[in-house]
Amino acid sequence: MKKELIDDIIAWDIVNWSKSFDFWKKHLDVKDKGYQCLELGARQGGLSLWLALNNNQVICSDVSYTDQQHELDKTIALHKKHGCEQNITYKAIDASNIPYENHFDLVVFKSVLGGVSIDSGKRLEQQTIDSIYKSLKPGGRVVFIENLEGSFLHMYARKKFVGWGSQWYYMKLNDIVKLFNSYKSLEYKTVGFFGAFGKTEKQRQMLGKLDTLIEKLIPKHNRYVMIGIAKK
Ligand SMILES: C[S@@+](CC[C@H](N)C(=O)[O-])C[C@H]1O[C@@H](n2cnc3c(N)ncnc32)[C@H](O)[C@@H]1O
Repeated sequence: MKKELIDDIIAWDIVNWSKSFDFWKKHLDVKDKGYQCLELGARQGGLSLWLALNNNQVICSDVSYTDQQHELDKTIALHKKHGCEQNITYKAIDASNIPYENHFDLVVFKSVLGGVSIDSGKRLEQQTIDSIYKSLKPGGRVVFIENLEGSFLHMYARKKFVGWGSQWYYMKLNDIVKLFNSYKSLEYKTVGFFGAFGKTEKQRQMLGKLDTLIEKLIPKHNRYVMIGIAKK
């Protein structure tokens, strides 16, 4: 994949988060499959772009599309820029209550699980993963990248420097793994440590390269990104 396309799909701490493509490729081929796909919490729709460019049919969704037309306009513009808008439709779907049953080959999300409970006052992570399960065809897969709690340094920095850091629910690796108990299989890996601390994408790129060099030295549960694929 060209760098410009990877940048448009991933958009943030690109060196670390784009490691997902190599991981998913080991377990999944999306090229020219005509899969029925759903992206949840898509905002700018990076993963929808990836699936649509590979000739799959995608519903690109985000709860915010109901009242944030400007976000949806940016998303559509991105998909038009890459000439794949004919493979994508747009909907405002609540990830914790997906109105489909046994329907999708693939459900994808990136950095969504920690935010599904923000406006509700109750924990909705398990309900979200169960809702995805219901929406998948038997043998269908959920493909995701999610933030993890990481180390105490990550939690400290989020509290101190990032306004929304106190609202986002950063889960431990083991707690996310448990959410998938009803699935037939779950494959995952964790990546990234210093990349989270960059203030600009240029800084994150340098720190991401450092992460790649020292990855084996960082304990798996202290890394801050989980890349996964689970099968119904
Ligand atoms: C951190 S952003 C990630 C956006 C995009 N996936 C990305 O990686 O850039 C989280 C997104 O989840 C959406 N979201 C929050 N709660 C949701 C819910 N219950 N159902 C669907 N989307 C939700 C938000 O509107 C927001 O666009």
